[in-house]
Amino acid sequence: MQQLLVNKSDIKQTKIVETPSPPLAAGDVRLKIDRFALTANNVTYAVAGDMIGYWKFFPAPDEGWGIVPVWGHAEVIESKCDGIEPSERVYGYFPMAEELVVQPARVRAHAFTDGMAHRSALPSVYNAYVRLAAIPTHDPALEDLQAILYPLFATSYMIYDYLLDNEYFGAEQILLGSASSKTALGVLQLLHDHAAPHPAVIGLTSSRNEAFVKERNICDQVVTYDNISNDVSQVPSVYIDMSGNADVRIAVHTRLGDQLRLSSSVGISHWDKFRPTEGLQGPKPKMFFAPAQIKKRQEEWGASVTQTKTMDAWRDLAIKSESWLTVKEGRGLASARDTYAALVAGTTAPTDGFIVNMA
Ligand SMILES: NC(=O)c1ccc[n+]([C@@H]2O[C@H](COP(=O)([O-])OP(=O)(O)OC[C@H]3O[C@@H](n4cnc5c(N)ncnc54)[C@H](OP(=O)(O)O)[C@@H]3O)[C@@H](O)[C@H]2O)c1
Repeated sequence: MQQLLVNKSDIKQTKIVETPSPPLAAGDVRLKIDRFALTANNVTYAVAGDMIGYWKFFPAPDEGWGIVPVWGHAEVIESKCDGIEPSERVYGYFPMAEELVVQPARVRAHAFTDGMAHRSALPSVYNAYVRLAAIPTHDPALEDLQAILYPLFATSYMIYDYLLDNEYFGAEQILLGSASSKTALGVLQLLHDHAAPHPAVIGLTSSRNEAFVKERNICDQVVTYDNISNDVSQVPSVYIDMSGNADVRIAVHTRLGDQLRLSSSVGISHWDKFRPTEGLQGPKPKMFFAPAQIKKRQEEWGASVTQTKTMDAWRDLAIKSESWLTVKEGRGLASARDTYAALVAGTTAPTDGFIVNMA
């Protein structure tokens, strides 16, 4: 079986290795990974691999190397688990590899959890596999969009819900950093579509992606990173940051100071500009972790209502994205390696959505 490994201490370095397929124990299922998506989010999994534990999902065979998780679709090709038969198709979290062996636990009609011991302490949203045949709304034609956009737009919806849940923290404007990222665009779209009154929506982006963000027509204002200190209004604000760029964070905090009601770190798409920022004006940045808001809503609304609301928001956003998103397909782990390298280098266009076809 082939796997794509990333050097944990230099995430630019990759290698494709051949390892024996592990034998199945009683209760195990072998999944053949069919198609998976790659976005800046997967680079973040590598950058935060040690800090947040993303390396722990799919341990690599070589010391010092890790396997970056991806979202995608797979098919059962061998099963020693009652109730799960070969040819069943699932959606979930996979290694950049040809195969994954899971040990289904909590098997329900619509999903199961991987019960492998090394995953038991990791957040449950990453361990669930959706059994697609049991999902009445599942549309095979939307599978690539599901792989690329569902994990991002589910987060967009949770950020939007978090803002509503907290009455926008009293802000008059919401600033989104790395506004051309799919996750930020989802939040911008949801805020834009929300019935008035709502705070002004400001997209912060690089000059190369400014035109793209403006063309979406979902921001009240688009400001490039180098104009933050002049163009951002000094009114009560919330900053939601997908970039992790320390200089951008300093510029926002310096411009807004105590007008900032919340500074929330969601991503590090500018992974090579990320560094700790001490002595910032205004509130201390807080990390946003989507699974925490999902858990809160599951307790308040129930798991099924939370799932339905998230799915509805995702589907609506995915349909709206079809006007600007181009799905680009590559074949095999060599194409995954090249796409991952382009995402690390930041040379991809915001309109690109990458799919790796492992068939
Ligand atoms: N915490 C969570 O639960 C969660 C969930 C989903 C996503 N996220 C995070 O949100 C961020 C965006 O993810 P995504 O998958 O939505 O991204 P994406 O669509 O692939 O983002 C593309 C955009 O990110 C910026 N970018 C990407 N790579 C860059 C690089 N190497 N150098 C400089 N800029 C770069 C550029 O935006 P600009 O020019 O506009 O800056 C680019 O247009 C990631 O860090 C991801 O991990 C977090």
